Amino acid sequence: MKFHILTLFPEMVLSGLNTSIVGRASKNGLLSIEAVNIRDFSTNKHRHVDDYPYGGGAGMVMQPEPIYAAYQSICEQAQKKPRVIYLTPQGRVFHQQMAEEFAKEEELVFLCGHYEGVDERVLELIATDYVSMGDYVLTGGELPAMVMIDCISRLLPGVLNNEESAEFESFHDNLLEYPQYTRPEVFLDKKVPEVLLSGHHANIERWRREQSLKRTFERRPDLLEMAVLDKKDRAFLKMLQEGKEQG
Ligand code: ADE
Repeated sequence: MKFHILTLFPEMVLSGLNTSIVGRASKNGLLSIEAVNIRDFSTNKHRHVDDYPYGGGAGMVMQPEPIYAAYQSICEQAQKKPRVIYLTPQGRVFHQQMAEEFAKEEELVFLCGHYEGVDERVLELIATDYVSMGDYVLTGGELPAMVMIDCISRLLPGVLNNEESAEFESFHDNLLEYPQYTRPEVFLDKKVPEVLLSGHHANIERWRREQSLKRTFERRPDLLEMAVLDKKDRAFLKMLQEGKEQG
């Protein structure tokens, strides 16, 4: 996978993404991350990339030409026209299935806006996907792009090692992850649940499944609608709903 990030702050995205698991994957050649500085494509002698909005109003708008030229420089190297994800609170809210879909692409372009927005015409020409990180407003698209790249990268073959990928994940079966414990066995008078020390694998598995169901029921009941549940799960949930659960 090749990730291209159109941004005014290349050092911001590169410093974040060259770290930890994504950084390791990039060094191992499993993916590549290129930050394209939009300012490098300004033809203005002051290297301006923004201007006042037509019609008046507050703030500045990013001009179309440098963005389009930066995008073209990516297309010149690409095999086919890549998808261009414009990060905006006006987009579809990002979720795991979207990451799975994007992970199938060979190349992805992220367009990070700043100021009050981006000239609509360049968006009409190049943006294929409008994605939001959530219903709040950030100062730019860099952090959302980094979040998406992190999430997509860990789905690519070889990026996680065996131990990392064997980890049970939140959103597996659309349920939240069960609680985890490590040493010490007692921490500030709080004991690790007995079942986890029992060595009884079937009981541990059942306990973890029930904890996942309980957490999802308490914290994100909306996820249960799409959860993959068997008969036992449904019976357990029914018990929770009826308030009969003992703890
Ligand atoms: N740019 C500013 N706010 C954003 C958000 N919530 N999601 C994606 N891009 C943004």
